[in-house]
Amino acid sequence: MEQFALDAIERITTRKRHVYDTLGVEPLTPLIGAEVSGLDLSKDLTPGQDEEIRHAFLTHHVLVFRDQNLTPDEHKRFAQLFGALHPVALPTPDSDPYVLEISANQKSRWVAGDGWHVDGTADAEPSLGSMLHVTSVPEAGSGGDTLFANMHLAYDLLSPAMKTFLTGLTALHDGALPWLRKGQSPPRGYDVPRNEHPIVVRHPDTGRQLLLVNKPYMSRITQLSETESTAVLDLLYAHVARTPLLHCRVRWQPNTLVFWDNRCVQHHAVWDYFPHARHGRRVSVRGARPQA
Ligand code: SIN
Repeated sequence: MEQFALDAIERITTRKRHVYDTLGVEPLTPLIGAEVSGLDLSKDLTPGQDEEIRHAFLTHHVLVFRDQNLTPDEHKRFAQLFGALHPVALPTPDSDPYVLEISANQKSRWVAGDGWHVDGTADAEPSLGSMLHVTSVPEAGSGGDTLFANMHLAYDLLSPAMKTFLTGLTALHDGALPWLRKGQSPPRGYDVPRNEHPIVVRHPDTGRQLLLVNKPYMSRITQLSETESTAVLDLLYAHVARTPLLHCRVRWQPNTLVFWDNRCVQHHAVWDYFPHARHGRRVSVRGARPQA
């Protein structure tokens, strides 16, 4: 590994380990993800717990809470501690506009999120983060894990020359692309979001730089020719998908809730359990426009 990459990893792994008073926080890897214990999310949090969850969230980017028996209202109430709720893009009639049901079974022909992505970057203000509460998992040994990738580290592991090249570039994110790439049209009446965001952005809470690329929604880098844009984006998508150092893997149990920072994390729901079933509910928190 190159020295600049070793330096980036060392900066993270030699950080003084924070001592938590009100929670247990066990990292999944030294670079991304942590299991948090000692909390019942259906109950009010103490100010100390609230502060420590926020600290753990900004440090580890993906928090896993086990054994959380939550109603949809309790789930939404926990999410609202972090901001107003981000509405579901295409709610079905009679569904809660803030709760996305995520289900797959033997009738499924596709599942939500089966590929590396960031949620909703075609929006002007993509969500701050999402909380997925999985209530039923495939039979033992049937998979259904979710992978997460640290996009701060994805940026840090690029060479200084590549970082300089990407700085100042912007890309178009087009909400119609997931349909168009399947030869379909977006649903009638859907006000398709399209927005341009920088490729190198700063996390609004920590100021740390990160790589904002998102294969399902990105059409092209505005300042490059189409051929150049495709080559650069393919390289960056492959960097995210093929660098296991960036990743952690969450193995779900019934009543696990995972809260991820959509501003600095990509995720990939692994659909390796067909024809078995899996069910969960996702609630998201409103975010802000990504800034360079
Ligand atoms: C998603 O939010 O993209 C789905 C995640 C999952 O089902 O694990």
